[in-house]
Amino acid sequence: MRLGIGQTRPQIGDAEYNQEQILEILKKAKDARVDVLVLPELTNSGYAFKSMEEAAEHAEEIPDGPLTDMLIKWSRERAVVAGVCEQSKDELYNSAVVVANGQHVLTYRKIHLFNREKEIFRPGMEEPPVFEFKRFRFGVMVCWDWIFPETARILALKGAQVILHPANLVLPYCNDAMVTRAIENGVFTATANRVGEERELSFYGRSQVVSNKGKRLLQLSSDEVELGWVDIDPCVADNKMMTERNHILHDRRPELYRRLTRE
Ligand code: ACM
Repeated sequence: MRLGIGQTRPQIGDAEYNQEQILEILKKAKDARVDVLVLPELTNSGYAFKSMEEAAEHAEEIPDGPLTDMLIKWSRERAVVAGVCEQSKDELYNSAVVVANGQHVLTYRKIHLFNREKEIFRPGMEEPPVFEFKRFRFGVMVCWDWIFPETARILALKGAQVILHPANLVLPYCNDAMVTRAIENGVFTATANRVGEERELSFYGRSQVVSNKGKRLLQLSSDEVELGWVDIDPCVADNKMMTERNHILHDRRPELYRRLTRE
């Protein structure tokens, strides 16, 4: 299975420029025979909105918006997850759309909002999802979900072999944390970050794929719009034995973790 990560440089207010970059990455991914592609968070719109009104100007509906439409056209016999500034009936969400085999599969609305996102978006109210493609299982989370180990854990418990992770990273810790998320859950992770500056924020790229053993299999540059890919066998992530006596999911002691789910 060929797993691709695309790194882009969206700009607020320039939908055409944002779309051109995505189209270029999609074309390259098709030529490279990528099976499953991850694109960054808010890839249609840019990130550092001044206000909810500004975000709304650049938001789109799912599945009836231009980004989902473009992904649907690309995705025959392929799958892609991309971050979308989503306009629902009444609210804005920081969402990830999953499209496969020419169809909209699901939309995940980010449940942990970062910093000023809290002034702009509604948090999602549903558990992060797992979907199947070509008999492999993929979990989805968005950017800041990385700081909550519960997010990746839930995806692993739901059977994800690979976590697909659109991101717009500004804090420097995520890439190392995702190595830990991969090790502690025995899953592959694929983080697609953006690059460039936007208002007061600087995004550092270095999009990466990590193996189920915590090895970095691929890392992109800190400043280029680019695509990278790596061939993986997601089935190796079904083996959760870390020693002959330690199954990393079965050995958990949930009866001692009740504090985690107290309000
Ligand atoms: C982030 O969640 N975009 C840091």
